[in-house]
Amino acid sequence: MGRTCNLLFSLAVFITLYHHTSSLANISTDKSALLTLRSHLSFDPNNILARNWSSSSPVCSWIGITCSSRHHRVTALNISSMQLHGTISPYLGNLSFLVSLDISYNALYGDLPVELARLQRLKFISVRNNNFTGAILSSLSLLPNLRFAYLSMNQFSGEIPSFISNITKMEVLSMQSNFLEGEIPRELGDLCYLTFLDLQFNELSGSIPASIFNITTMENIGLTYNNLTGQLPTTICDHLPNLKGLYLSKNYLGGVIPPNLGKCRKLQVLSLNYNEFTGTVPRELANLTALTKLYIGGLHLEGNTTISY
Ligand SMILES: *[C@@H]1O[C@H](CO)[C@@H](O)[C@H](O)[C@H]1NC(C)=O
Ligand SMILES: *[C@@H]1O[C@H](CO)[C@@H](O)[C@H](O)[C@H]1NC(C)=O
Ligand SMILES: *[C@@H]1O[C@H](CO)[C@@H](O)[C@H](O)[C@H]1NC(C)=O
Ligand SMILES: *[C@@H]1O[C@H](CO)[C@@H](O)[C@H](O)[C@H]1NC(C)=O
Ligand SMILES: *[C@@H]1O[C@H](CO)[C@@H](O)[C@H](O)[C@H]1NC(C)=O
Ligand SMILES: *[C@@H]1O[C@H](CO)[C@@H](O)[C@H](O)[C@H]1NC(C)=O
Ligand SMILES: *[C@@H]1O[C@H](CO)[C@@H](O)[C@H](O)[C@H]1NC(C)=O
Ligand SMILES: *[C@@H]1O[C@H](CO)[C@@H](O)[C@H](O)[C@H]1NC(C)=O
Ligand SMILES: *[C@@H]1O[C@H](CO)[C@@H](O)[C@H](O)[C@H]1NC(C)=O
Ligand SMILES: *[C@@H]1O[C@H](CO)[C@@H](O)[C@H](O)[C@H]1NC(C)=O
Repeated sequence: MGRTCNLLFSLAVFITLYHHTSSLANISTDKSALLTLRSHLSFDPNNILARNWSSSSPVCSWIGITCSSRHHRVTALNISSMQLHGTISPYLGNLSFLVSLDISYNALYGDLPVELARLQRLKFISVRNNNFTGAILSSLSLLPNLRFAYLSMNQFSGEIPSFISNITKMEVLSMQSNFLEGEIPRELGDLCYLTFLDLQFNELSGSIPASIFNITTMENIGLTYNNLTGQLPTTICDHLPNLKGLYLSKNYLGGVIPPNLGKCRKLQVLSLNYNEFTGTVPRELANLTALTKLYIGGLHLEGNTTISY
């Protein structure tokens, strides 16, 4: 597995370099992209951007803008929590040096433009808490450097595509509270740097692919409030030495609670409640000495559920 990871990594670096040398844009390109972006916003209640993003002042002095001194291009755009309404202009794709994009906590809507895929240097994106709709990852899957994706609390819909595995460097994938449906693709397990996976509060169904329990870097897996069925793999914790949180409550998971959970030695929170697990609470859970929260209510367990440490 580690080998495959390294190979994909080199390939991504090559593709990135190739892309960069073909760019002819400059800071004027960034300026007109940002002014177009602003013109698509229908409501800016405090007139922050209307006042501050003045075409007579240098772009790099604008609020929410960070530039690199080396290339003199816009590298970060942060217009989080400004109560902005409106859509995102396709001109966003012209900010070709953008590394970080934070438009979270506004009232933005519509689809994310496909031109997002042109932001080949992007490492961080947060569109959290807006009203974006449409398919979630179609453009993002073409971003070879993306590591942090916060897409939660929107109205994204459809399935999680198998080509999510294209985003090979992904470390954080947060898609909580959307309308995602269908099965969790097995290919998610190919994201071998993932530490945080949050798919809670969606409409995902089918069984949890065993491959996601093979990501050794994983620290948190959140799947509560979905329609997941089937059983947990008996070897669930064989490759999860760093797992701190496993959130599975409010699904339709069945079978026994795997004794193998006792091997996730760093586990602090384990929520299994409101599922269809049967049998007993395995005594191996007593091995979880870091555990601070264990939720096992609303199950069909039998026998003595006291766990002694
Ligand atoms: C940006 O490039 C355009 C032509 O592509 C040129 O006219 C303009 O002067 C350049 N602007 C800066 C700030 O370099
Ligand atoms: C825009 O805001 C920045 C940061 O608050 C400030 O330094 C700059 O002077 C402002 N520019 C204008 C034109 O208001
Ligand atoms: C964007 O700015 C907000 C404060 O307005 C801050 O909390 C947030 O961390 C910033 N985002 C990034 C990616 O730095
Ligand atoms: C900016 O983006 C728009 C929309 O994608 C495109 O039509 C235009 O050619 C781009 N301009 C530059 C200078 O890249
Ligand atoms: C999203 O839209 C709904 C209904 O139009 C509205 O109630 C809600 O406040 C909006 N949320 C955001 C974050 O804009
Ligand atoms: C995924 O990556 C492969 C090659 O690595 C590429 O051919 C394909 O177009 C990508 N698909 C999407 C949807 O990103
Ligand atoms: C989830 O399961 C419940 C109960 O079985 C069902 O009523 C609901 O339609 C399912 N939702 C989806 C999106 O599959
Ligand atoms: C998990 O990894 C092991 C070896 O590292 C491999 O044998 C197994 O097939 C993998 N399982 C899945 C479901 O990917
Ligand atoms: C739990 O710890 C006991 C020793 O206290 C050990 O024999 C057992 O193999 C451990 N089980 C697991 C699943 O780690
Ligand atoms: C349940 O098991 C614990 C320890 O394993 C024991 O102390 C307790 O008395 C048992 N309770 C019942 C009702 O058997």
